[in-house]
Amino acid sequence: MEKMKNGIWLFLIICALAVTVVNSDDSEKTVVKTVKGKKVCTRGWECKEWSVYCCNQTISDFFQTYQFENLFSKRNSPVAHAVGFWDYQSFITASAIYQPLGFGTTGGKLMQMKEVAAFLGHVGCKTSCGYGVATGGPLAWGLCYNREMSPSQSYCDNFYKYTYPCSPGAEYYGRGAIPIYWNYNYGAAGEALKVDLLNHPEYIEQNATIAFQTAIWRWMTPIKKSQPSAHDVFVGNWKPTKNDTLAKRVPGFGTTMNVLYGDMVCGQGDIDAMNNVISHYQYYLDLMGVGREQAGPHDVLTCAEQLAFNPTSSSPASSS
Ligand SMILES: *[C@@H]1O[C@H](CO)[C@@H](O)[C@H](O)[C@H]1NC(C)=O
Ligand SMILES: *[C@@H]1O[C@H](CO)[C@@H](O)[C@H](O)[C@H]1NC(C)=O
Ligand SMILES: *[C@@H]1O[C@H](CO)[C@@H](O)[C@H](O)[C@H]1NC(C)=O
Repeated sequence: MEKMKNGIWLFLIICALAVTVVNSDDSEKTVVKTVKGKKVCTRGWECKEWSVYCCNQTISDFFQTYQFENLFSKRNSPVAHAVGFWDYQSFITASAIYQPLGFGTTGGKLMQMKEVAAFLGHVGCKTSCGYGVATGGPLAWGLCYNREMSPSQSYCDNFYKYTYPCSPGAEYYGRGAIPIYWNYNYGAAGEALKVDLLNHPEYIEQNATIAFQTAIWRWMTPIKKSQPSAHDVFVGNWKPTKNDTLAKRVPGFGTTMNVLYGDMVCGQGDIDAMNNVISHYQYYLDLMGVGREQAGPHDVLTCAEQLAFNPTSSSPASSS
């Protein structure tokens, strides 16, 4: 039923049994119990569900305000298009919904930091205005937008008129930290986040927490039920099938681009639209002190040769 349709920003060329309180400095927020032999925890408001993932560090333990400021250093410069909108706390608040499901909390500290760098790499690239105004270098301009500036249409697909009917007058153009488009994506994200985005798509450009939540929802949610999410392919939750292997899809960063953008970015060879995303990821790994060498080998980073999970040729109306 679902079709992959993605837009791009027009200006771009181109994720209980025993209850004990653990000691240490986390004693005030971490609570541990064992359910069916498995240790589960909560970690205060940031990871308040009982979950195995919450036993690991939370995102704010390893990614702090100064790092956010470094990554997005130009976002409040006068030529930016969302001055004063984006901030660190909105990102951390938004991530609280998905940390108990593994966002930024899977696999130990290195993988956790890499996932945040990868997710924010997509964010920085999709919201960059670094291509015309390169002071500080093109990679310094992430979070420069919070909406598509000159939408060519309102992205209302009547195929979904029973499940996600378009609200009269509403426009479902690209909004958020990883822009979402179309009534059905607004509808599905709104259901997951318990915010009425179908009737109020404008909330995403008015509230930075919601703008990060929809982006994290996109990162954590498969395009189709039978497929992996960008999170799954990145952290190693996904095992490629024989078809995936034939399509050159392997676990890692490259395949996150395949999930999120399909053949607009992947399977086109060594194009700018793909290299821009990779460059943001590598740059953020450096700025976060992880180092780009941790990104792994070229064949894991790229999707130049991959076939799309959801080819646009087999999907009607594409937005791009
Ligand atoms: C938590 O971190 C450890 C390493 O520090 C890792 O082995 C484990 O898989 C992580 N837990 C989850 C649920 O990812
Ligand atoms: C922004 O959205 C969040 C999440 O829905 C909500 O908790 C918060 O109150 C909103 N902020 C404003 C200023 O409306
Ligand atoms: C594998 O690919 C073939 C050819 O594209 C397709 O017919 C088949 O349904 C696919 N199998 C799975 C399990 O996706």
